[in-house]
Amino acid sequence: MQQKSTHTEIEILKAALSQPELLTDDDTAAVFYNLQHLYGKIVELKELFPPTTLHAIAVKAMPLPSVLEKIKQAGVGLEAASLPELVLALKAGVTPDKVVFDSPVKTREEIRFALQNHVRLNADSLDEVARIAEILPTLETKSIIGLRINPQVGTGTIAITSVAGDYSKFGVVLRVHRQEIINLFVQHPWLTALHVHVGSQGCPLPLLIKGVKAVYDLAEEINQELARHGHGQQITTFDMGGGLPVAYHPTDNPPTMQQYVDNLRLMMPGLFDGTYRLITEFGRWVHLNGGFTVSRVEYVKRSTANGGVNTAMIHLGADMFIRECYLPEQWSHEYSLADAAGTRKSEEATQKYMLAGPLCFQGDIIGRNISLPQIQAGDWLIIHDTGAYTLSQWSRYNSRQMPKVIGYYGSGDGWEILKPRETPEDLWRFWKGKE
Ligand SMILES: Cc1ncc(COP(=O)(O)O)c(C=O)c1O
Repeated sequence: MQQKSTHTEIEILKAALSQPELLTDDDTAAVFYNLQHLYGKIVELKELFPPTTLHAIAVKAMPLPSVLEKIKQAGVGLEAASLPELVLALKAGVTPDKVVFDSPVKTREEIRFALQNHVRLNADSLDEVARIAEILPTLETKSIIGLRINPQVGTGTIAITSVAGDYSKFGVVLRVHRQEIINLFVQHPWLTALHVHVGSQGCPLPLLIKGVKAVYDLAEEINQELARHGHGQQITTFDMGGGLPVAYHPTDNPPTMQQYVDNLRLMMPGLFDGTYRLITEFGRWVHLNGGFTVSRVEYVKRSTANGGVNTAMIHLGADMFIRECYLPEQWSHEYSLADAAGTRKSEEATQKYMLAGPLCFQGDIIGRNISLPQIQAGDWLIIHDTGAYTLSQWSRYNSRQMPKVIGYYGSGDGWEILKPRETPEDLWRFWKGKE
């Protein structure tokens, strides 16, 4: 792992440092988020998929209300994996027909709330379908209701985010329950959607396509079976989830969205002929490369132990980079180094560093043996490609303050505070609960 080849993020940091009061002395760390990147990704999705497709962007990847509101303004929807995410989506102003509720453990109250608010929901289990069937006669709803299927097509390279193996905690397993699933659709005319999500990062294109195809074939089979029973077409919505992998490193070569759509079209032309309203639920692909994070280096600990590798002590660790600390082989970033004024440091003489966070446990190291120019206290470490699944996985351990999030447009203008830095009082309120 080396310094990222592009200088853009350093230039943004430098421009931000020159703005009065944008970064203050309190801002030991900050997250930058490129709004132009977000809008570009949304346009790309709209161009590549049929115009009727609902792009429900995964809230879990980047849940800041100020970003959700911009997603709403861009005319697309949101996918919520929990009740609070559902509330965030609705509070951001997204209309219920553009919200998909996918929590894997919905209580009766949550199901009732979703139905009363007319959002789309996907049942995660056969028992959940039974619960919905119990609740439906008690209220009026326009919700479109679907069932999540585990197509059992295999796992990708990252076990913790692969959900289409033989066993997964999500969805109804296809091989075991195929006939039961078909019977369920015959029994419940309000079940009109199928949902599949193969995994998030680490799933190669053929695996993603195979998972969608397995559930597409099921949708076709169910509709044929329903026709035999004299019903009209019942499955009208096909939700293919998210999961397109994204590059964290220059050597990563993920498929493009264009390749994904081309392969879907090739393998399942019927998916694009207007029979089904399509839903996508991308998160990482939308957000990851649009964000980067900076931390001031507070100290450099010189070491004769650890093969002489020094340790840069920074202001973010497992609080924001939980996966990077616990599973470093699978989750890591590129880094760059700038001096206190935001000027890129010369790469002529690099050495290896441990990049250690501020938390009180030994595993709080976000990067090990990382080659960087000579680091001095006061320098800025830039952690690249942090727009998804970093801030959203924030941990409260040691009650650290979540950093300020600064929005900008591609070339470093249109600065906007998307979220202020938390104060110690915010933490007091968090732990105390309601005052
Ligand atoms: C049901 C569902 N949809 C969408 C996503 C978003 O996946 P990604 O961010 O990889 O596109 C996830 C991620 O875990 C998910 O579980």
